Amino acid sequence: MNDVLKLMSNHRSIRKYEAKEVSNESIENIITAAQWASTSSNIQAYSIIKVKDRVRKEQLAELCGKQQHVVDCPVFLVFCGDLNRINISSKMENVEPHLDTVEPFIVASVDTALIAQNVMLAAESIGLGGVYIGGIRNNSNEVSELLKLPDYVYPIFGMCLGYPDNEKVPEQKPRLPLKAIVHEEAYENEHQENNISEYNQVMKHYYETRSSSTRSETWSEYVSKIYQAPKRQHLRGFLESKRFGFK
Ligand SMILES: Cc1cc2nc3c(=O)[nH]c(=O)nc-3n(C[C@H](O)[C@H](O)[C@H](O)COP(=O)(O)O)c2cc1C
Repeated sequence: MNDVLKLMSNHRSIRKYEAKEVSNESIENIITAAQWASTSSNIQAYSIIKVKDRVRKEQLAELCGKQQHVVDCPVFLVFCGDLNRINISSKMENVEPHLDTVEPFIVASVDTALIAQNVMLAAESIGLGGVYIGGIRNNSNEVSELLKLPDYVYPIFGMCLGYPDNEKVPEQKPRLPLKAIVHEEAYENEHQENNISEYNQVMKHYYETRSSSTRSETWSEYVSKIYQAPKRQHLRGFLESKRFGFK
């Protein structure tokens, strides 16, 4: 394996950090490199709000479902899908943009995910660790107000970054077998149940033996609970209030 593959294969979410500042220069270097992510039609439909202020992190942590690592991390980045610049550019060019269809919403979400994962890898390459925070979508209106997000901008996820507390680095969480996610020539649905059963055993063992928060649960038991009830049903209304649409 080369160094890039090794780095990628060593990922784990980091939620405990050393009490050590992450310099603005480091953040700038990481994001400048991450900006080279491919982007749909070069529209670069994202913005990143960098938060270091403790009070603001506390407010965000509360809004994210009381996640302590949002307070403890030296830097919290909020990744937003952003069509605001497309709207402004269109106005500059006297064009009426159609930004209320599903397509630009997907484009902004995908562009944002691509730069974010580049940020995560770049951060890990300089010895930082981090964790994504989907909890930022728990209270979208309040987050949007706190961060002064204009129309056409919506928070997709946050990312805690900091130097890992080496005493508390977690074991890696096993992934699905490759055959479950890579299909030869066409989707191989007939094998999925077996693939899941195989992975269930791996995950059960991982949950039972990891160094913290042990429990006895399979992957299918775990994931089936996630969508047992509808989630974050305010999102459609929030997105529409930000001028996104699903036409
Ligand atoms: C979009 C996204 C949102 C996430 N939201 C949270 C979150 O709110 N809180 C948290 O502790 N972890 C969150 N995670 C981390 C995942 O739980 C974690 O990546 C997953 O369990 C795999 O573990 P690993 O990253 O250690 O390999 C999120 C991950 C992603 C990609």
